Amino acid sequence: MNPVKTISSNPFADQKPGTSGLRRKVSVFTRDGYLENFVQAIFRAVFPETGGGCRGKCLIVGGDGRYYNRQAIQIIVRMAAANGFGKLLIGRGGLLSTPAMSCLIRKHSAAGGVMLSASHNPGGPDADFGVKFNGANGGPAPEAVTDAIYRETLAIREYLTLESADIDLDRPGLTYLGGMEIEMIDPVADYAALLVELFDFDKISQLLANRRFHMCFDAMHAITGPYAIEILERQLGAEPGTVINGVPDECFGGGHPDPNLAHARELVERMNGDAPLAFGAASDGDGDRNLIMGSGCYINPCDSLAILAANARLAPGYREGLAGVARSMPTSRALDRVARNLGIPCYETPTGWKFFGNLMDAGRITICGEESFGTGSNHVREKDGLWAVLFWLNIIVESRKPARSIVREHWLRYGRDYFTRHDYEELDAGGAGEMMGRLREGIGGLAGRGAGELQIAGADDFAYTDPVDGSHSEGQGIRIFFSDDSRAVFRLSGTGTANATLRLYCEKHESDPARMEFDTQRMLARTLAAAGEIAGIAEFTGRTAPDVIT
Ligand code: G1P
Ligand code: ZN
Repeated sequence: MNPVKTISSNPFADQKPGTSGLRRKVSVFTRDGYLENFVQAIFRAVFPETGGGCRGKCLIVGGDGRYYNRQAIQIIVRMAAANGFGKLLIGRGGLLSTPAMSCLIRKHSAAGGVMLSASHNPGGPDADFGVKFNGANGGPAPEAVTDAIYRETLAIREYLTLESADIDLDRPGLTYLGGMEIEMIDPVADYAALLVELFDFDKISQLLANRRFHMCFDAMHAITGPYAIEILERQLGAEPGTVINGVPDECFGGGHPDPNLAHARELVERMNGDAPLAFGAASDGDGDRNLIMGSGCYINPCDSLAILAANARLAPGYREGLAGVARSMPTSRALDRVARNLGIPCYETPTGWKFFGNLMDAGRITICGEESFGTGSNHVREKDGLWAVLFWLNIIVESRKPARSIVREHWLRYGRDYFTRHDYEELDAGGAGEMMGRLREGIGGLAGRGAGELQIAGADDFAYTDPVDGSHSEGQGIRIFFSDDSRAVFRLSGTGTANATLRLYCEKHESDPARMEFDTQRMLARTLAAAGEIAGIAEFTGRTAPDVIT
């Protein structure tokens, strides 16, 4: 009943999980034994025989609906049964958003979850697929676990599976495979119930019933469609049609399910159309990112994070205040100013959500976020796109102010942290690596040097020691501090699937009330130029301009 399959080729050497699991082209994942090798490595690393293996344990499985989602789930179901899991909970249709996965693991006290997604990367036969593992706390596997998974991918020679017919992913209820119970559950219900506990649904309904408050949520043909339709339209009574692109599509409608001004074009057009909307939002492929827009204004994610923290008490779930907050290192320091004002700690962590988990589990932080359109709280252990949307709506209704005024008043009170990120994509990995290597080598000699029109006040390579478990992470990005108090950060992306992506983040604080509405790129021009010169971006990458400016 449990045939053991031997992996024919040598174990795959390229299965090192990045910041958010293993992401590769579909054509790589569909290679014989590739997905199976990685899944077996997860099972062996996370549920070692010494701890009783997988036997009797409960696992959650779901994905963002992209191409290959259903086939991958069938493979995982057979392997889970052969490995002895007691119970599988699967989102109906094979669907689950990343925050809903985290919610379900916690609610059902599961041993973990296998999430199939490549987040905001495009989907389709020629595009990307991904697998990540979330642990019993609902959060992404920490580095020690992803390292152990990687070691297993190199060591194993066989995986366990069953010969059996596909299960019906669309029929609710229970089925059995081997000794394992499989329950097909509503992907939305538990998650929606959690949001009801955090936000004032009655008041938000009143806001959405107001004829003068029109909003739009762009699900970008991805997973948040069913979630947003249920929560915004059915439960909160927003007009039908508030959610656009709401049916998950295997190829995301041919688009890039990345909620930024370049890719959420339909939303941006509606926000700026003849009948301008009061509020707009979008989410990404797997539902953990958010883009927030007010009437005539785009709200930078760093500002959004700071504003949510500053106004948290307006939402019922946060009325008692915040234990602390955290941001990833490249995220602007707007959050730090709010924390100082509230008298609570603010942690600076390396990029990637997994670093927030320990702080939340230890009760040290309540809200956290990243510049890359990710915001969340301790209600789950992942960032959460729709959570941010409801939080904003709750703040708007309680403060009785439009989003734009909330942002402007925040700047007047705390000053504005102008922030931008420049991405140089699909670079030759050699050149990009050499550039970062040179920067690292020269870091000690940077302080005091001039660069462009600026002076360098200091520089370092960001390292982090987790205050909870003492684990240490080095080489997390090069920070350069300038004498005008602006900052530049360099790091290479850990999530791309093609060559190297260089990210350059720049920020500068401005406290003059007369300079709150200036052009971001102009305000940061000197910092950007100095950073480019110090690193030698043009020489090492052959590029004179970034591919994407956020
Ligand atoms: C990117 C973002 C990072 C985020 C990650 C997963 O990683 O920059 O903040 O946590 O996606 O969504 P990167 O490609 O920069 O390594
Ligand atoms: Zn995502």
